[in-house]
Amino acid sequence: MVVLAAGEGTRMRSATPKVLHRIGGRSLLGHALAAVDGLGPGRVVVVIGHGRDAVREHLAAIAPAAFAVVQEQRNGTGHAVRVACEEVPPDPAAIVLVVCGDTPLLRTQTLATLLAEHERERAAVSVLTAAVADPTGYGRIVRDSSGRVTQIVEHREATAQQLAIDEVNSGVYAFHAGFLTQALGRLSTANSQGEQYLTDVVGLARAAGETVLGVRAHDAREILGVNDRVQLAALGAELNRRVVEDWMRAGVTVIDPASTWIDVGVHLEPDAVVCPNTQLHGATRVAAGAVIGPGTTLTDCLVGPGAEVLSSYATQAEIGAGAHVGPFSFLRPGTRLGPDAKAGAFVEIKNSIVGAGSKVPHLSYVGDAEIGVGVNIGAATVFVNYDGVAKHRTTVGDHVRVGSDTMLVAPLTLGAGSYTAAGSVITQDVPPGALAVGRGTQRNIEGWVERKRPGSAAATAAAAAEKSTTDDLERAE
Ligand code: UD1
Ligand code: CA
Repeated sequence: MVVLAAGEGTRMRSATPKVLHRIGGRSLLGHALAAVDGLGPGRVVVVIGHGRDAVREHLAAIAPAAFAVVQEQRNGTGHAVRVACEEVPPDPAAIVLVVCGDTPLLRTQTLATLLAEHERERAAVSVLTAAVADPTGYGRIVRDSSGRVTQIVEHREATAQQLAIDEVNSGVYAFHAGFLTQALGRLSTANSQGEQYLTDVVGLARAAGETVLGVRAHDAREILGVNDRVQLAALGAELNRRVVEDWMRAGVTVIDPASTWIDVGVHLEPDAVVCPNTQLHGATRVAAGAVIGPGTTLTDCLVGPGAEVLSSYATQAEIGAGAHVGPFSFLRPGTRLGPDAKAGAFVEIKNSIVGAGSKVPHLSYVGDAEIGVGVNIGAATVFVNYDGVAKHRTTVGDHVRVGSDTMLVAPLTLGAGSYTAAGSVITQDVPPGALAVGRGTQRNIEGWVERKRPGSAAATAAAAAEKSTTDDLERAE
């Protein structure tokens, strides 16, 4: 199995090698390898060249068993396969499957069909083809009067008559290894680009009286390649349509497929509901009955059954069964909301556990904390976890009531069942069941407004209020 990925991808105009650009949360190279992987292939050889260090590193991360072979000079697709076969020689009796690193929509099933036909017909070369609306730039499949493939002609070398052919070369082939290795040694560079064309193996096979098959893909979209960012976006949208449709067929409600983006690594259970303008990324998993969105972005999150995540942004967070999140919550890595817990409007949580049924309903920051069960955190509470140098932890016992606008200065422990008074700055541990008050005592300076702000609207209002109080008292006498 050979994946061609040495090209420069000039038209991407990018510092990133083309095959490392991503759609559906996976690199183009990753898509090619995933399609091949489903076949249970033998050895996988990836031909790299442009941006080789970055591609090699990525390959080691996603497919450590694959061989990376460097094509020093980009002398064409035929040369690339030759380099691969020289470095990792195939068994002469084996089948060598060749795919390009920039065709991310190819399905395993399509490759399996190509291989099955190839084996059944004992072909020397089988090429996957498709009829496309705009064949510009592709190699054309030339067939004889009995429909057999005779050659593949590149767009640049094609005659006007050949340019009218709409059946094109996908760049995916199955080869008899023994035939391939000897044909690769005979490729010429007598063409407009001065390159060794892999496509010329077809003509060589015909000349040698070998069988050449052209196998048409059922869905022509599968063979589309990425050459620039316009195509990257178009294929990204196509892949997303496919993924979203698969989940709908599996029992997930998607209100607006057009504004819903789901990465290929995401998993959803039947009867999950995905509302408009929602993005599910990475390895996110959503359980049955959960409602996500509208307007929610989740990356690598776990969402429990029946949970609701409304207009929120979360990364590496666990949202328990029946929990409520949002609108406008920001859950950062290490957040774990227990069953039926709540993170409400304008709440940020990171690296913290919120116990079952506990609520952080409004305008709060919770960092580096462990909150027990049945706790209520009053509005505008801040877990003051950072002293400018180090982060410190806060522990909140079960059934604690934290008053609104409390600063909890870590390291700190609030004992089970304790309360804090609203507006407190809590710097010392609170014993179980105690009320902690950490604020100045209020004093009222009578008549201050009329003395210091005479004639102001406030002073007039105050005078009127005082007069009506006096009148009431007089009437009561
Ligand atoms: C190639 C085919 C064309 C087919 C099209 C399908 C040839 C001569 N032409 O054209 O018939 O319709 O793919 O998309 O094969 N690569 C290397 N080393 C090289 C040259 C290319 O690794 O020296 C890799 C590229 O990274 C790419 C693939 O081979 O993944 C195809 O190369 P590209 O230059 O894109 O070929 P096309 O002109 O698209
Ligand atoms: Ca191409």
